[in-house]
Amino acid sequence: MATLPHHIAFIMDGNGRWAEQRGLSRSAGHRAGVKNIRSIIKYLNSHTIKYVTLYAFSTENWNRPEEEVNGLFHLLEEIIKEESEELHKNGIRIRHIGSLEGLSAKLQDSIDKAIKLTADNTGMTLGIALNYGGRAEIIDAVRRIISSGVNPEALDEKRFREYLYTADFPDVDLVIRTGGEFRTSNLLIWQTAYSEYYFTPVLWPDFNEKELEKALQAYSQRKRRFGGL
Ligand code: IPE
Ligand code: IPE
Ligand code: MG
Repeated sequence: MATLPHHIAFIMDGNGRWAEQRGLSRSAGHRAGVKNIRSIIKYLNSHTIKYVTLYAFSTENWNRPEEEVNGLFHLLEEIIKEESEELHKNGIRIRHIGSLEGLSAKLQDSIDKAIKLTADNTGMTLGIALNYGGRAEIIDAVRRIISSGVNPEALDEKRFREYLYTADFPDVDLVIRTGGEFRTSNLLIWQTAYSEYYFTPVLWPDFNEKELEKALQAYSQRKRRFGGL
């Protein structure tokens, strides 16, 4: 394959519609969506993509009915517990991107354990954007910058990014959004300033290796200029 991205972020959208099309509950859609993650990560790992971010739950997703939110958290807790060992064996380092505030003790615990277990791995870094909002992240960064007494004159872009949740991630090269919407829904707004976007109508539970190859192929054709010529 031609030029591959170093950092891919996925907006895994369309679980609800996937379920609706089949006359299933939204939670069945989320189950199918979560199940789909495994083969995608496996593919990306075998192609030595170094950074992958999965948008699993946005700060705005709290606006959904409590039952759906709790069901989603339960599923995420389960998958993190179930998959950590396998990810660890594959040298993958798990990171949480977002805030732990408001998450159940059990979910926080499963995230914590997965991070600790995989902390020293040097393969792919897998960022789980869970309870993540781009605006919330920037506010969080500004708060910490102010309280650490940074001299305003000393603040530049390089310094600022050290206060983001993704301080040790490179900028996103490619954002893939499934589910047919053409928007970013508050994902990594600082880190995607110069990202390439790939939008597909394919619903997340149907987004397989073949669809991923199409996205990577499209990316390899892009001319990134970063404002230059
Ligand atoms: C994306 O699927 C998963 C999350 C937001 C957690 P949706 O649940 O948004 O699915 P649609 O957009 O309703 O189809
Ligand atoms: C974006 O999907 C968030 C995640 C995939 C976690 P949404 O379904 O929440 O996005 P909107 O509401 O359509 O923008
Ligand atoms: Mg959606």
